[in-house]
Amino acid sequence: MKFNKITPELAEAMASIVGREYMVLPVDQEGMARYTHDETEDLRYLPEVVLKPKNADEISRIVCLCHENFIPVTPRGAGTGLSGGALAVHGGVVLSMERLNAIIDIDERNLQATVEPGVITQVFQEAVMARGLFYPPDPSSRGSCQLGGNLSESSGGPRAVKYGVTKDYVLNVEVVLPTGEITWTGANVLKNATGYNLTQLMVGSEGTLGIITKIVFKLIPYPTQNLVMLVPFRKEEEAAAAVSNIFIAGIVPSALEFMEREAIVWASRYLGLGMTMAEDERAHLLIELDGNDMDLLYKDAEQVYGVLEKFDVGDILVADTEKQKEDLWRMRRSVGHAVKSNSIYKEEDTVVPRAELPVLLRGVKEIGERYSFKSVCYGHAGDGNLHINIVKGDMSDDDWNNKLPEGIKEIFRLCVSLGGTISGEHGIGLVQRPYIGIALNEVQLRLMQGIKQLFDPHGILNPGKIF
Ligand code: LAC
Ligand code: ZN
Repeated sequence: MKFNKITPELAEAMASIVGREYMVLPVDQEGMARYTHDETEDLRYLPEVVLKPKNADEISRIVCLCHENFIPVTPRGAGTGLSGGALAVHGGVVLSMERLNAIIDIDERNLQATVEPGVITQVFQEAVMARGLFYPPDPSSRGSCQLGGNLSESSGGPRAVKYGVTKDYVLNVEVVLPTGEITWTGANVLKNATGYNLTQLMVGSEGTLGIITKIVFKLIPYPTQNLVMLVPFRKEEEAAAAVSNIFIAGIVPSALEFMEREAIVWASRYLGLGMTMAEDERAHLLIELDGNDMDLLYKDAEQVYGVLEKFDVGDILVADTEKQKEDLWRMRRSVGHAVKSNSIYKEEDTVVPRAELPVLLRGVKEIGERYSFKSVCYGHAGDGNLHINIVKGDMSDDDWNNKLPEGIKEIFRLCVSLGGTISGEHGIGLVQRPYIGIALNEVQLRLMQGIKQLFDPHGILNPGKIF
């Protein structure tokens, strides 16, 4: 790929589109700092300019300029991504969506909402909840991540196991194409059999096909009751095995999260929660059941206990206050940050059919022993989605950079051999790009690259990602 640098004349033209106060240049080191990284490892890339447009029209004029002049454009939400998707690896423009942050409409007649992409996920969840409505996708970073970023990676989170991921709530999207055209992708309907599904093509496309400027979401009624329990296991693999058995028993929890011992110990220490646990407790399942009738939830809980009895479990903690529930969820949501605060780490986002989780977990540990790396595993076990945090600790830079990738390849080959794949919800972005050939064959890659070429003939949009 051959790109051009932004000349002073082009920078001037960009400033006249967005307004000078919404443009950041590298001379402003402090203003620029947050746009040089996301939450991925310790990676940093300096863009030539950051632009903060206000609407689709400004974005269209910017990308037209960039398309004509072969300037890379990296769209960016809140920068909470874990695969390097928002990093300007080829320089050029970072297009920050922070000013497109309006909740345009909450349509209570149709249970839909129209938003701009820069709305923070939790802000949106709370706005619809105030009307008794539910937007379930809840990535751990929901307090700071943006809906446009969630769409771009098809984010999931704990409640995906019952309610689905971001893609399951997107009805229609307004996008600016790299050539400057502005279009909606579909219609505001729950069913749509009208041609190819352009809406879902945008979801999970990691900012490589178009820039999302409006989203129409489907909403559901808010479930009024829930029950949260933390179940300790004496063997990691038994915790992983219990997961599929809960579903086989006929129960679909609203969350079913797995955490290895270190995940809880580090998160509890990170938050100062002072949680204690018995020496022999190796892993926990955090299980949430929800609905509108507490008696039914207790009946479901009995079913779950029936499954758990077959395993070697310790004392089950059932949260009996809202504060206790909130602390458990806060602890779970902070695992990634807790690990990061301990060491440089790589976060893998493996996913397999859920009954294969014990095999995956055993394989990860066995591969770790052979390649001398330590891992802290946790994640959305109900979805078969295991986050593997590989901790650098005292591993040498040489082993980290050259030996570890071979170990990661083995983990990914194992996932694929189990019917799984290499990312469930964090995307491919920059850091998983070297591994994509393990998950996708040549035919799949050729089709995807053809789509990219059709949408973005000059390859300016988020170059260096996915392929
Ligand atoms: C989580 C993020 C890292 O599950 O996906 O906490
Ligand atoms: Zn996750």
